[in-house]
Amino acid sequence: MSVAARAKAKRAELLRLSQAARKDALVGLLRETAAAALRVDPNVIAVDAVNPDPMPMFEFFEERLLSIIGTPLRWYDLPHCHSIGALAEHLAKELAPPPAPADPMRDLYEDGAMPSGLSSRQFGAKLERPIVFLLSAARSGSTLLCNMLGKHPQLYAASELCLLSFDTMGARRRQIEATGQKWMRLGLCVALHELAGMTEDQALRRSVELENRDVPVSVVYAGLQTLAKDRMVIDKSPTYAGHPDWLAHAERLFRSARYIHLIRDPGAVIESLVRMRFHRWRPGGAAPEPNPWIFAERVWASANLHILNFLRGVDPARWTRVSYETLVAEPATVMNQICAFLEIPFDAAVLQPYAGGGANGVGDPGFRAHSRIEPDLALEWRQTPPPHAYGRITREIAAALGYAA
Ligand code: A3P
Repeated sequence: MSVAARAKAKRAELLRLSQAARKDALVGLLRETAAAALRVDPNVIAVDAVNPDPMPMFEFFEERLLSIIGTPLRWYDLPHCHSIGALAEHLAKELAPPPAPADPMRDLYEDGAMPSGLSSRQFGAKLERPIVFLLSAARSGSTLLCNMLGKHPQLYAASELCLLSFDTMGARRRQIEATGQKWMRLGLCVALHELAGMTEDQALRRSVELENRDVPVSVVYAGLQTLAKDRMVIDKSPTYAGHPDWLAHAERLFRSARYIHLIRDPGAVIESLVRMRFHRWRPGGAAPEPNPWIFAERVWASANLHILNFLRGVDPARWTRVSYETLVAEPATVMNQICAFLEIPFDAAVLQPYAGGGANGVGDPGFRAHSRIEPDLALEWRQTPPPHAYGRITREIAAALGYAA
């Protein structure tokens, strides 16, 4: 059984308990985890000892919890990290399944379509060198595919560059500051580290300097392509599918961008988004979406609809569509097809995304919890299918992509 499967089974087991019993079980799990890391007896780990600074406990459990109960800690869990007892009590409530929606989703957007924030200004000529955008809804296996592609000697795969949604780095900074989403800087910093050998501090300083000078994102892309030398840059950022204009921006920036549309069954994506508590991860401290299932359905449906509509206007020679389910079941077949699409020779290194320990885990924190491609993850979610009927638009998009919903 994979680590992820064990964690999901443990979560299901916890959910069968009453809240009080769940808290006690979580206390046990947290103590065991801390004790194993510290190599002490679990009984030595105090349950109610209060540490005024919640950060050490948050950092300790942040990713570890993913392998234990199938969800990592998020920043909104921080205030509960003063003691093992307080964290267990909080998680006992957090894990409880959210109520199923009474009615199917009616509107694709929560508050109507949001503005893209992009101007129609063209910053310089289109970039000539090809680039590949890996487009998908969140939780579709994009981190895995990105890391597979990144093993090809003729490709450089960057995760979460978060550039395409902006005209300039100044606009990007304003968005980061307004929403507090500092993680948006991470992918570019990792790319600068990997391509230019910068330290973490140097990369962050360079990124801030680009923001201060309000450099157009086209200049940043051109710089990354130069640093990547003869490797073709892959940009995978699931946020790009959040708005039709962000996708259209790729065609304004590049003369011959290529696109890989990665799809995954809506049921799997919705289960993952709800379990990972994406509905609680709201920019700028906005109130949590009252219905996580509808929130997750909107993420899947809107991203895939935007990508479908966008690709209708792109030369079919410049895009391809692959499914996560086929990717994990038949990785060699799918990667052969992708290499042919990219006009590069197939290289078996793409089948070993974890080889060399150099896995770039920006994106899905769960990617690092695995050590190989796990075909079982494509089917596991079926054990807990979503408890609600999908909206009409979701069913139409699912049908267009070949999924029964
Ligand atoms: P689950 O939460 O259903 O496990 P993304 O990177 O687009 O956010 O996608 C996350 C999904 O990728 C996870 O969804 C997980 O199933 C899948 N994934 C990550 N690493 C994997 C691996 N090594 N093998 C198979 N699937 C993997």
